[in-house]
Amino acid sequence: MNDTRSESGVPPITIRPSRDADLPQIQAIYAHHVLHGTGTFELEPPSLDEITRRRADVLGNGFSWLVAQRGEALLGYAYANLFRTRPAYRFTLEDSIYIAPEAVGQGVGRRLLEALLADCQARGCRQVLAVIGDSGNQASIALHAACGFEMNGVLRSVGWKFGRWLDVVMMQRALGEGADSSPA
Ligand SMILES: CC(C)(COP(=O)(O)OP(=O)(O)OC[C@H]1O[C@@H](n2cnc3c(N)ncnc32)[C@H](O)[C@@H]1OP(=O)(O)O)[C@@H](O)C(=O)NCCC(=O)NCCS
Repeated sequence: MNDTRSESGVPPITIRPSRDADLPQIQAIYAHHVLHGTGTFELEPPSLDEITRRRADVLGNGFSWLVAQRGEALLGYAYANLFRTRPAYRFTLEDSIYIAPEAVGQGVGRRLLEALLADCQARGCRQVLAVIGDSGNQASIALHAACGFEMNGVLRSVGWKFGRWLDVVMMQRALGEGADSSPA
């Protein structure tokens, strides 16, 4: 999809649509964050079959599931799917983004999210929501702010993980003309 040319000899990062062959690495990245992080409120890592089903659902709804790759290494992934399935929500998406633990804080998330937002806009979507696990999740809050999301509010103490209550931070970004015109 796009490359960053490196002058250091480090292979460039490529952002591209995911392939079936990426699914084991996608499952492993997500499993790490389920087991060690509060960005997701899942408690047990989903199986490869379940991740396969989730990706098929995203693609079947007409949206994209992107990955970031450097050399042979899958650095992370991002996708958007319907925020809610009831039809009046059809122009509003929720994004999900997970970076491999060895690749966080290197700009990969920003590259992926910017590409995903451009993709969502090109598909005619008007709003993207970030439903961020844990008000202490500075990386996700900063990433979304850097990509133009604004804070909507905080749902207090709605999750319980690792022996503590967790907030959900809601952020939102308009795409294209947002609410200034009717959808196509
Ligand atoms: C959240 C996550 C996707 C961010 O991706 P990333 O590749 O680490 O972030 P980037 O390096 O692209 O940084 C994006 C911006 O956030 C800032 N940022 C990143 N990590 C930060 C941190 N820990 N604290 C404060 N700011 C941070 C960067 O400075 C950058 O801002 P800039 O572009 O204006 O300089 C990644 O850290 C991750 O996978 N975290 C665990 C899973 C998770 O919480 N996913 C989101 C679920 S809602």
